[in-house]
Amino acid sequence: MADTTNSIKHIASPLARQTLQDGALTRPVAGVRPIRLLPWLQVVKIGGRAIMDRGRDVIVPIVDELRRLLPEHRLLILTGAGIRARHLYSVGLDLGLPVGSLAPLAASEAGQNGHILASLLAPEGVSYVEHPTIANQLAIHLAAARAVVGSAFPPYHHHEFPNSRIPHHRADTGAFLLADALGAAGLTIVEDVDGIYTTDPRGPDGDKAQLLRETSASALALHQGTLPVDPALVEVMATARHLERVQVVNGLVPGRLTAALRGEHVGTLIHTGLKPA
Ligand SMILES: Nc1ncnc2c1ncn2[C@@H]1O[C@H](COP(=O)(O)OP(=O)(O)OP(=O)(O)O)[C@@H](O)[C@H]1O
Ligand SMILES: [Mg+2]
Repeated sequence: MADTTNSIKHIASPLARQTLQDGALTRPVAGVRPIRLLPWLQVVKIGGRAIMDRGRDVIVPIVDELRRLLPEHRLLILTGAGIRARHLYSVGLDLGLPVGSLAPLAASEAGQNGHILASLLAPEGVSYVEHPTIANQLAIHLAAARAVVGSAFPPYHHHEFPNSRIPHHRADTGAFLLADALGAAGLTIVEDVDGIYTTDPRGPDGDKAQLLRETSASALALHQGTLPVDPALVEVMATARHLERVQVVNGLVPGRLTAALRGEHVGTLIHTGLKPA
């Protein structure tokens, strides 16, 4: 009778014999830097409130600037939610809806802004794609077109953390998580202010606000007061695997986004703390 024992393939797995909770054991296997999936990709997050809610006068010039950038860069353009989501939060909170119900509703508002941008860039072959397509088919879409548009909201949805009644993970956080997971060349966050200030330049102490040309996620974690980016962005930047910095720029000033994508320092640079490989 044939001896089949030698033909049995034993698959050795370095993590099979240990608990995944012991960092000392998992680090040699899980501690290495992941590969960059799309190292040539530039991710641009367009503010919902800062840009999209302002309508034609602001959207058309930004779309023109994005259009002119297409021959130079391959872009993933992600849109924030803006004022409609804020109204939705107030109605939903008043009705007692849990955060896991509010998160997907707000995300759909971010998606609406994405559909608007994609429609305006459609003649350039740009289309809106849903999250599963970004996750699995971004490369083929970007082989066919110079840019695609998606919602910047991360799909925590019904799994959103219940540590706040307003969804904790919003558009800036989603844009960063995606850009870092894809190993993108950069992330630029487009706002309606020149960058991050010591205090809200449009707030009551606006005359005392000073622009921070350069800061870090660890410094912003200690910042008292408001920021033009999600607090959770600062948290996720602490564990960046690829992105060493993010730039926040003023989309109301023509040419700032273009300059940022060319590597110029024209807004606030936020360093993640990650050192070059
Ligand atoms: N420390 C700060 N520095 C700069 N701007 C600030 C600061 N604190 C608050 N802001 C305000 O944040 C505003 C931008 O708001 P916000 O970030 O909510 O808009 P958005 O990015 O378009 O929104 P979304 O995340 O829905 O896309 C700026 O116009 C500014 O007035
Ligand atoms: Mg913002």
